[in-house]
Amino acid sequence: MKEVAIMAELNAANSGTYQFDDQFKINRLGYGTMQLTGHGTWGPFKDSDQAVSVVKRATELGINFFDTADSYGPWFADRYLAAGLKKAANRDQIFISDKVGQTRQGPSLWTPHGEPGYLRQQVEVSMMTLGLDHEDLLFLHRIDSHFPVAEQVGELKKMQDEGKIKHIGLSQVTIEEIKEAQKYAKIDAVENLYNVADHKDDDVVDYCESQGMAFVPWFPLNTGKLVGNDSPLSSIAAKYNVSEAQIALAWLLKRSPNILPIPGTSSIQHLEDNVAAANVKLSDADFEKISKLA
Ligand SMILES: NC(=O)c1ccc[n+]([C@@H]2O[C@H](COP(=O)([O-])OP(=O)(O)OC[C@H]3O[C@@H](n4cnc5c(N)ncnc54)[C@H](OP(=O)(O)O)[C@@H]3O)[C@@H](O)[C@H]2O)c1
Repeated sequence: MKEVAIMAELNAANSGTYQFDDQFKINRLGYGTMQLTGHGTWGPFKDSDQAVSVVKRATELGINFFDTADSYGPWFADRYLAAGLKKAANRDQIFISDKVGQTRQGPSLWTPHGEPGYLRQQVEVSMMTLGLDHEDLLFLHRIDSHFPVAEQVGELKKMQDEGKIKHIGLSQVTIEEIKEAQKYAKIDAVENLYNVADHKDDDVVDYCESQGMAFVPWFPLNTGKLVGNDSPLSSIAAKYNVSEAQIALAWLLKRSPNILPIPGTSSIQHLEDNVAAANVKLSDADFEKISKLA
């Protein structure tokens, strides 16, 4: 009995919802697939069964927002994601944000490439890999300075008009860049580096909120540096009797209703720990205290 009660409490739905469109109202606390690769986001994860199990467990815990990219592996994270979602009971309610526009040369090596034909190719191959007939949300992973923004965003807009992309997003952008892109397409989401330790993009969060755009913070746990013994969040975590990861995620959830955190993990234990953040409600005073830690 007790176990059933505990399971009922562990649900991403407790983080509240965000509405993308009539079809998709998602739970705010999502999952990012980048840890499901080899070292340096390169090659396969060391245990493919485990990678698939993490995705499956995420769906059981109420996560229905998954963030991925062609460049994670490349393709490996997408394959595990597709396999993990295949038998999900709530498959038709799952919303995937995908990204194209970064090429890979090896571990930890990334080069933006925004040639319109390449962006189109990657969207097409991503849909095949993920088993989709359209992308729910497609981020331009990086604006490539070698091509006009009009051409890069314009190609995504063409694919949107063709029904291949439902929502368009931008990743790692300034407000000026968002405004420029908004001339060529409706921008529904921004994905930038943002966490307790680094919230230089507060102005971008506020701009997104004012425009009704989702803000997806990448590195929500600062790649794990906000977690564990050296964490600056240890004393506040002890006060709430929760983990440091939960405090870091609870802070993001309180920061703006448009924020959709996507912590990445290859561990079911850490996944469950992260989902429990949906139950942590920080006081205003503690929120302010944490905001000043950066
Ligand atoms: N748009 C972009 O340019 C961009 C760039 C980077 C990332 N992203 C997206 O953002 C997502 C999140 O970023 P990230 O995964 O790199 O970093 P993160 O979520 O900040 O941190 C992940 C790290 O924290 C550890 N971790 C996770 N939960 C934990 C917990 N409860 N307790 C202890 N350790 C924990 C993970 O290790 P374990 O595997 O051992 O749990 C991993 O080392 C990615 O998956 C990706 O979807 C986007």
